[in-house]
Amino acid sequence: MSCKKLYIETLGCAMNVRDSEHIIAELNKKEPYELTGELNKADLIIINTCSVREKPVSKLFSEIGVFRKYKKDGAKIGVTGCTASHLGKDIIKRAPVVDFVLGARNVSKLSKIIDKKHAVEIDLDYDDSNYNFGEYRTNPFKAMVNISIGCDKSCTYCIVPATRGDEVSIPSDLIIGEIKKAVKSGAKEVMLLGQNVNNYGKHFTSTDKKSNFTELLREISLIDGLERIRFTSPHPLHMDDEFLEEFASNPKICKQIHIPLQSGSTKLLKEMKRGYTKEWFLNRCKKVRELCPEASISTDIIVGFPNESEEDFADTLDVLERVRFEQLFSFKYSPRPHTQASTYSNQIPNEVASKRLTKLQKRHTEILDEIMDSQMGKTHSVYFDELKSGGKISGRSDDGKLFFVDGSEELLGEIKDVKVTKTSRGALDGTII
Ligand code: SAH
Ligand code: SF4
Ligand code: F3S
Repeated sequence: MSCKKLYIETLGCAMNVRDSEHIIAELNKKEPYELTGELNKADLIIINTCSVREKPVSKLFSEIGVFRKYKKDGAKIGVTGCTASHLGKDIIKRAPVVDFVLGARNVSKLSKIIDKKHAVEIDLDYDDSNYNFGEYRTNPFKAMVNISIGCDKSCTYCIVPATRGDEVSIPSDLIIGEIKKAVKSGAKEVMLLGQNVNNYGKHFTSTDKKSNFTELLREISLIDGLERIRFTSPHPLHMDDEFLEEFASNPKICKQIHIPLQSGSTKLLKEMKRGYTKEWFLNRCKKVRELCPEASISTDIIVGFPNESEEDFADTLDVLERVRFEQLFSFKYSPRPHTQASTYSNQIPNEVASKRLTKLQKRHTEILDEIMDSQMGKTHSVYFDELKSGGKISGRSDDGKLFFVDGSEELLGEIKDVKVTKTSRGALDGTII
């Protein structure tokens, strides 16, 4: 008999991407599943959801409609992730075709509930932080490893603390063990995951050896065979000098850093409860540029937060001009349930927010074009991790740029120096030197 087939769709952030790998590993513990991209062939359809804005929540319900239409008789539908956490049984009320709902940080309960019709497991206090999932990685060359789960902040726009619960740091010996396993099976690069990675070490559940994020980075960098360390996301508030000095001086730490701004206005940052000012943010970016001029900095920005005036928005544009982020993820503010900001008066009209978003993105595109054009002829160290069609292979430079070169399988898992021969906004072409 052929094995069962799984169709899995992942919305949201890197955490969710890793959770989907955990879901696959968890299923395989009970019986083997083969992945399929064809809905009508699947025995199990899972959508791993995001709640951070209203859009991915609407997407969940439109996708359930599609699943219902194309699924074969007897196939099950499961809803997992952040929207599962925050809507729980209401998902089944609204869409009875859904067989089970499993919240973020409850993944290890999957095999227990998969055969229970209309099971709902969304416990926010459940400690799913000990890697009891089994092994599954989409890309053997790069490993994602959680270092913490949940979030201990209460940014007033953000639903994540209500979907992923309180912050728990994972003991460093477990993290090291997990990375060593990945390295043994071919990974030279690790991406450390957490909502606030550099708040690591504040909330252990056990009394095991405690370390902070900088110490953890040092310890991880001693692992033989591991060449590259990335992490997402650090919080600007916790970027102390010691951490930035380690970032700049440790050769295994990739020179790419995400510093989520959210707004350039100190007034709005206060209303968002971010805990830092415009000046602090600029000072941290300046420090990165001084210590490590080759580093690329990316950011997240929200426009149209309640009460955002033209002056507040001008502050955001000002930070963009000064830091010249290599990558920008920008969003229109979306009021979320369980958040303080959704109750604020002075919500910004949609047309105003749209205009600001367009202006911000247009200016960033110009900056990005300049940055990418200036790469012509430069040499980067590229780690090749994916075969592409047309005799191409792709990889990332140390500072996170996407590269394409002519090449085949033998280059997979190799790090080579590549000279840029063609630039574009999204990626660079090059030749190995
Ligand atoms: N822990 C990370 C953020 C996780 S959510 C941090 O603190 O940076 C990812 C991004 O989604 C946020 O950085 C923010 O820019 C955006 N976001 C969160 N809530 C949002 C909302 N209600 N509306 C629009 N964007 C939002
Ligand atoms: Fe959300 Fe703030 Fe926590 Fe990030 S730090 S996940 S934005 S509450
Ligand atoms: Fe990530 Fe979305 Fe949840 S951004 S933490 S999957 S709400």
